Amino acid sequence: MAVSIARLSFEHHREALGIGESQPRISWRFAGNASNWEQSSYDLEVSRSGQTNSYSTNSSNSLFVPWPDKPLGSAEAAKARVRAHGGTQQSSTPWSDWVAVETGLLNPEDWSGSVPIAADRDYDVNAPKQPIYFRKEFVTSDEVASARLYITSLGLYEAYINGDRVGDAVLAPGWQSFNYRHVYDTYDVTDSIKKGQNAIGVTVGEGWFLGRIAWSGRNYWGDNLGLQVLLTVTTKDGKKTAVPTDDSWAASTGPILSSEIYDGETYDSRLESAIEGWNKPSFNGSNWVGVKSLSPVKGHLMSPDGPPVRKIEERQLEKVFKSASGKTLVDFGQNLVGWLHLNVQGPAGTNITIHHAEVLEKGELALAPLRAAKATDTVILHGKGPQTWEPTFTFHGFRYIQIDGWPEETPLDGKAVKAIVVHSDIEQTGWFQCSNALLNKFHNNVQWSTKGNFLSISTDCPQRDERLGWTGDAHAFGPTANFLYNTGGFWRGWHRDMWSEMQRRGSMRVPFFVPTVPPDSDDPGAAVWSDVAVGGPWDLFRFYGDKGMLAEQLPQSKAWIDTGLPRNEVGLWKRDAFQFGDWLDPKAPPEDPGAATTAKALVADAYLIRMTELLANMSSALGDEASENSYRSKHATLRKEFAQAWITNGSSLANRTQTAYALALHFDLLPSDDGASPSSKTKNGATGGNRAAAAATLRQIVAENDYLVGTGFAGTPALGPALQGAGASEDFYSMLLQTKVPSWLYQVVMNGTTTWERWDSMLPDGTVNTGTMTSFNHYAFGAVADWIHATIGGLAPAEPGWTVVAVEPIPGGGITSAGARFISPYGEITSSWWIDSAGFHLKLSVPPNAKARVKLPRGAISTLVGSGLHEFQEEY
Ligand SMILES: *[C@@H]1O[C@H](CO)[C@@H](O)[C@H](O)[C@H]1NC(C)=O
Ligand SMILES: *[C@@H]1O[C@H](CO)[C@@H](O)[C@H](O)[C@H]1NC(C)=O
Ligand SMILES: *[C@@H]1O[C@H](CO)[C@@H](O)[C@H](O)[C@H]1NC(C)=O
Ligand SMILES: *[C@@H]1O[C@H](CO)[C@@H](O)[C@H](O)[C@H]1NC(C)=O
Ligand SMILES: *[C@@H]1O[C@H](CO)[C@@H](O)[C@H](O)[C@H]1NC(C)=O
Ligand SMILES: *[C@@H]1O[C@H](CO)[C@@H](O)[C@H](O)[C@H]1NC(C)=O
Ligand SMILES: *[C@@H]1O[C@H](CO)[C@@H](O)[C@H](O)[C@H]1NC(C)=O
Ligand SMILES: *[C@@H]1O[C@H](CO)[C@@H](O)[C@H](O)[C@H]1NC(C)=O
Repeated sequence: MAVSIARLSFEHHREALGIGESQPRISWRFAGNASNWEQSSYDLEVSRSGQTNSYSTNSSNSLFVPWPDKPLGSAEAAKARVRAHGGTQQSSTPWSDWVAVETGLLNPEDWSGSVPIAADRDYDVNAPKQPIYFRKEFVTSDEVASARLYITSLGLYEAYINGDRVGDAVLAPGWQSFNYRHVYDTYDVTDSIKKGQNAIGVTVGEGWFLGRIAWSGRNYWGDNLGLQVLLTVTTKDGKKTAVPTDDSWAASTGPILSSEIYDGETYDSRLESAIEGWNKPSFNGSNWVGVKSLSPVKGHLMSPDGPPVRKIEERQLEKVFKSASGKTLVDFGQNLVGWLHLNVQGPAGTNITIHHAEVLEKGELALAPLRAAKATDTVILHGKGPQTWEPTFTFHGFRYIQIDGWPEETPLDGKAVKAIVVHSDIEQTGWFQCSNALLNKFHNNVQWSTKGNFLSISTDCPQRDERLGWTGDAHAFGPTANFLYNTGGFWRGWHRDMWSEMQRRGSMRVPFFVPTVPPDSDDPGAAVWSDVAVGGPWDLFRFYGDKGMLAEQLPQSKAWIDTGLPRNEVGLWKRDAFQFGDWLDPKAPPEDPGAATTAKALVADAYLIRMTELLANMSSALGDEASENSYRSKHATLRKEFAQAWITNGSSLANRTQTAYALALHFDLLPSDDGASPSSKTKNGATGGNRAAAAATLRQIVAENDYLVGTGFAGTPALGPALQGAGASEDFYSMLLQTKVPSWLYQVVMNGTTTWERWDSMLPDGTVNTGTMTSFNHYAFGAVADWIHATIGGLAPAEPGWTVVAVEPIPGGGITSAGARFISPYGEITSSWWIDSAGFHLKLSVPPNAKARVKLPRGAISTLVGSGLHEFQEEY
């Protein structure tokens, strides 16, 4: 088929069951290799309640087109399909498959009297809370036509109906700023409910809601484990039954003695018999306690924007061995996030205790980097034969485990122990490979750090007593994440929370991390970190082309820059404001990662100017000319003030550092050569001028530093683009392929399987960097992969939403071939190039309704090409 519809989708949902939008916008991706195919019109069909309506629209738009039918009601199902027509002489696509969409409970009253409930029992508020098992039986009068479970918890839940696990989400409903947004999930449970007696059972553990989070404290959003459910059943006889949580439910504890995010789970299988059949009908619950209703949840009950957390893959063990001190260790060969799956048999009461760690030090688990997170699971066997076990309400970041107390009855091998990899089920959309094996391994490590840190929210680290939604890390890494995975819905929810937190504070300061803990905390915000309120929405717009979402997020971007950001008398950053600055500059002392070689205020001002430019461009994209002009004029003024404050002689930055020069070049901060009005016309003015002088200085700094990295969080993403913009991409290749510390590949030659928090989290002698802030799974420095995708892979968005793809590969570093693949909003884009005796060759495939701007390495001009397969060649 030369052109067809690969996928139709609603808003940013991967599956559109239980969505919150009554008029979900529709997008479709294309497949096929048709040449220069452009959509001229499309037909949408919407079918609901047995009636189908057709709509034809003359438009080239295939992204986020308006819902054509009347709005959906609460819990209303429909399906839609699309057919697109090309231009004159061009074919049409066949109809797409029908794709189902269904709304959740759009209004509070749709919850039919369901209230949050808790077990009626005494408990110690200040201790870890033992997970609670809730149950309720109900009767249906006939075979089931349709049934839905709407569910959330004060804590984390896992639900069963008649003994069947409901859905496959884990750690649901995830983590939100619960005082503002409390996610509920929707499941189709039609097949689990039968005529007659049924039972629903749900376990609830503390999770983020009331568990121990951050460095001190627990009970941040509540102090009791709660559950809120509405089960709706329509039977074939037409009757509707609602089973809400109310005071008719029963509660108990069970074999999960404790299950905490940082500290792990303790599970006593001997207690299973006491609750056997608890989630099925006809269970004798006479020794269960009653429940009491709690006040309504504080946040708005909202359906999720992004996909749930799931068990995504399994990892076999690579090695079982003894540590120096005789402990039994297991190596999974990959630092990952998730938990163990055990398949074991042994005497009743056997106590198997598992410690998790990312690295070994002196032949033992290195536990110090976990700080106060115990990351320990304990399972007590029931002794009645083989049993399987996985923890329920915790997760760990680990490559190695230590197992104590393993029973002799079971060989400790790959059948007995495997690792389960867990993360938000975002769709993988990006791939990269090249002829350099170390770089491929590095890219693989970047991907593993993405998996490990995209767990409900984007976290800085997944293993120690932290795992917070740090804004600075997300800002640096956004473009890389957006290439590797479809993160539109994932970030959309997070930005909703950010906006709620900003409004709560009134100051419009963007918190260091979102959700904030404690929930009422009021940190001062900081450049780069808080700037994600601008950079995040901008990167989302570049990748997904969703103007509606941009309009939804622009108020937070403006509020931060216009109101939240503290300024000095000339409009730059207030000089005594708190800053992280170029955090983790490799020359900063290990115990003071903020003591970078570039002035904090210089970094902050540079970012402020960039954010002001982005605000102008975002306003322009939304057609708000007045707003655009206002930010353009502020931008011009701030550039002058920056030059005044930080630049001498037109091109000398106050600090002679990689970060200062990289930011000045990449953010276009150097004054034009006449010294008067700074103008972006100097951009790419490679000959002469301040830009060329600054570029020469940056190259010199880099060479003097032996092509080792000299940047922290703020400078790292700018380094590649700055050198490339100065025509010095070969210098950046030298840095990228450097293997001495500090560099990106140092971690690879040190056998790292994820990217690290510090350039030298592990020192060359194999010891863990002193100081307790040392994670082996931090994605921030992996932000360089954005440059790798664009410049080695040759794929970047030239226009928002990848309407036009920038294909501008620049070979270097002795790499002789490379390729990248990206599933864009229009469909799949692939590029691959290689160099042989005949020269440079490029193969490119562009999806229908998109275009590519191609510039070959030696070529002076770019060519605009339409969809289809293209081949290029030049002497090299
Ligand atoms: C385009 O796709 C069709 C169907 O898959 C295939 O038969 C054809 O060979 C492709 N054309 C090119 C130039 O690859
Ligand atoms: C769409 O374009 C076709 C062909 O140009 C025209 O006949 C038709 O009226 C247009 N439809 C609408 C709704 O504008
Ligand atoms: C339920 O169990 C209790 C003891 O826990 C027992 O007294 C009672 O008879 C049982 N009920 C049924 C119906 O089996
Ligand atoms: C299991 O053994 C560990 C020591 O290996 C001990 O700390 C823990 O208390 C034991 N757990 C139980 C539930 O007996
Ligand atoms: C950077 O430049 C500023 C301004 O000249 C100077 O005060 C500062 O000491 C320099 N170095 C650092 C690490 O801030
Ligand atoms: C912002 O818009 C201006 C004017 O169109 C353009 O020159 C500049 O490259 C844009 N900046 C970014 C970061 O895209
Ligand atoms: C600025 O440029 C002038 C003229 O080239 C030179 O004499 C002076 O030393 C430079 N100052 C600095 C700080 O580089
Ligand atoms: C990396 O792994 C290789 C192969 O297992 C091993 O020989 C080497 O010592 C390891 N290097 C470090 C720094 O651990």
